[in-house]
Amino acid sequence: MLILGIESSCDETGIALYSTDAGCGLLAHALHSQILMHQAYGGVVPELASRDHIRRVVPLLRKVLADSGRSLHELDAIAYTQGPGLAGALLVGAAFAEGLAAALGVPTVPVHHLEGHLLSPLLSSRPPSFPFIALLVSGGHSQLMRVTGVGQYQLLGETLDDAAGEAFDKTAKLLGLPYPGGSVLAELAEHGRPDAVKLPRPMLHSGDLDFSFSGLKTAVLTKVREIGSPDAQQRADIARGFQDAIVEVLVSKSMRAIKESGLKQLVVAGGVGANRELRRQLDARAVKTGISVFYPELEFCTDNGAMIALAGALRFQSGASCKPAGAFAVRPRWPLADLTG
Ligand code: KG4
Ligand code: ZN
Repeated sequence: MLILGIESSCDETGIALYSTDAGCGLLAHALHSQILMHQAYGGVVPELASRDHIRRVVPLLRKVLADSGRSLHELDAIAYTQGPGLAGALLVGAAFAEGLAAALGVPTVPVHHLEGHLLSPLLSSRPPSFPFIALLVSGGHSQLMRVTGVGQYQLLGETLDDAAGEAFDKTAKLLGLPYPGGSVLAELAEHGRPDAVKLPRPMLHSGDLDFSFSGLKTAVLTKVREIGSPDAQQRADIARGFQDAIVEVLVSKSMRAIKESGLKQLVVAGGVGANRELRRQLDARAVKTGISVFYPELEFCTDNGAMIALAGALRFQSGASCKPAGAFAVRPRWPLADLTG
């Protein structure tokens, strides 16, 4: 079966083709990031995002078809991100997918964006097997889930305020770094000195699997005000202090989830999963405790069409969520725990 995947929930347009035939898998994928367009405004401007998705979707589709040597008439289904995300941006992908599917006479598979992230490590050459614990850390979400199978997700803990990626981005802004600051801040942190700036570890000992990151951002603001105008080394030290704090909490709660569940596999997904320090620390704990940690390929950590094509293919195969092309609704707010197999 050949599935087209379309991602347009925020500021990346992603298109991919996935085949469930033996020996196939991901055939081609293409991505356009709107980062440069939104940078001038210091954040995503929803209306600009929607309009740009409209411009990009057809050229990206043509590229994916050309790269894979496949034609539209070979498609068995079209998967697209139904939510959560920006309403207008979601509508572009949904309307395009539903219209194309109606024209081709194939069904559609509306996909939950976070399910795409959760399943993205299955795209790698060394995939995990069910069940596993997933640490989902993106710009909008920080959650620990027990994943038993496709559509079987039990929420174990989540952030009570800012998501991990959001905390990275807001802190980067405080340090005067360009949008989206997460990866730039992580880069700067590599030059910071360990323990030069010690910041709190929110909810480290809360006894549960929840997180809270907004206080950490405030602690950085207080530090910056204390110093006045930090020089390059001081900014790197603050970035390091911030990253060390957030990584320690994420690692500690993930290991707690592993211990409590008795499972031996941890999957890290979402944009913050690209963070090198987080990977270093988790890998070190994995060696110590004998568990395995799985990450998506770096290019599939942040938003992309491949993870939507994959989630769509797995759902299409199981018969779940598949519907005739035509009427549709997007779901800008959509808790993952509401999703069923
Ligand atoms: O999963 P994603 O692409 O989008 C959402 O679904 O939210 O994640 C984007 C988030 C942003 O907040 C970005 O700053 C963060 O992931 N991010 C990072 C790194 N690369 C991206 N955060 C920390 N370290 C990184 N290397
Ligand atoms: Zn995402």
